[in-house]
Amino acid sequence: MQYGTDMKPMFVLAPMDDVTDTVFRQMVASCAPPDLFFTEFVNVDGLMSPGRPNLLKKLRFVAPEGKVVAELWGLKPENFLAVCQQIADGSLAGELGLPDGVNFYGVDLNMGCPAKSEVKNGACAALIRPENRDLAKSIIEAARAGLRQGRTLTQMPLSVKTRTGFIAVDMTWFEFLLRQNLDMLTVHGRTRKQMSKVPADWEIIGKVREMRDELGVKTLIVGNGDVMSREQGERLAEQYKLDGIMIGRGIFHNPYIFATTPQNLLWEDCPPKERIALFRRHVELFAATWQHGERPIHTLNKFCKIYIQGFDGAKELREKLMAANSTNTLLTILKEAHTKYNDNRETD
Ligand SMILES: Cc1cc2nc3c(=O)[nH]c(=O)nc-3n(C[C@H](O)[C@H](O)[C@H](O)COP(=O)(O)O)c2cc1C
Repeated sequence: MQYGTDMKPMFVLAPMDDVTDTVFRQMVASCAPPDLFFTEFVNVDGLMSPGRPNLLKKLRFVAPEGKVVAELWGLKPENFLAVCQQIADGSLAGELGLPDGVNFYGVDLNMGCPAKSEVKNGACAALIRPENRDLAKSIIEAARAGLRQGRTLTQMPLSVKTRTGFIAVDMTWFEFLLRQNLDMLTVHGRTRKQMSKVPADWEIIGKVREMRDELGVKTLIVGNGDVMSREQGERLAEQYKLDGIMIGRGIFHNPYIFATTPQNLLWEDCPPKERIALFRRHVELFAATWQHGERPIHTLNKFCKIYIQGFDGAKELREKLMAANSTNTLLTILKEAHTKYNDNRETD
């Protein structure tokens, strides 16, 4: 199996912790699906500990989402091996309640998260540091061995998502990664030190693609950072000859961001009642998916801002919605608002 080489450029929804769960991915898939989804990142050391049940929610998905890559992070190669084996043999998907034959599409290794809590232990972006290269290699090899041991028919693809350096841009990191025989490499065009404070550097992403060509390896190169529309992504992919474009925060401004124009323009003109209906569907899915309080209700507030904006009365409606403390209350408010905006439209 290979990442989607038939689609050029391939569009990917970025993994965003506490944002891109199965519910939001289903919403994005229903608006305008990307070619590939990632789960939120999940810690393999936690998965192989008594804390496992708590972490499984981050891996949940449903078949209609399409291609879903499990994003993993951690420190212990043996845990990467075990979890990758469980992913490849389908036992983890079974544990998540998925029917036979429905499985993750691939595995991604997070080597870019800049958060202090992860980096201080030597995980995620800390793996970029030259002194941690042996560990990075062991993790990639363990993940690959796990995917091989657990494989049923074909080997699942293995990818890495990373930044351009730790303190400064470090092309030796990319040379190292490109020699690991990865199926895909996503480059977020900032160093760890830059966090999100400066614009993403697409020149470096382009240089990684050039290096890939010079080394003659097959790893697909996906660029990431500050892409706010599909058209912008297409232009960047063409300019730097990239295989794919990953979009994260752009989805907050347009849930139809992956649609091809002219559908993409529809979000600006999307009437209030349809925006309200979208949030209503999101809340209904949330209530049906997280029935045991796995996700607190206030986590819906960040989604409220995506849908309930750009029309008269949106701010007041948002304030009411964000004060709600149950999905039933939210649905009642949304139903009333939907009727109101429906009536308004009919009397226009
Ligand atoms: C709220 C939030 C959570 C994130 N969580 C993850 C994560 O779990 N795994 C990961 O690889 N990157 C994570 N990222 C980084 C994004 O995947 C992406 O690389 C970054 O936002 C830059 O892309 P953008 O400018 O299109 O948003 C997160 C970003 C945000 C804003």
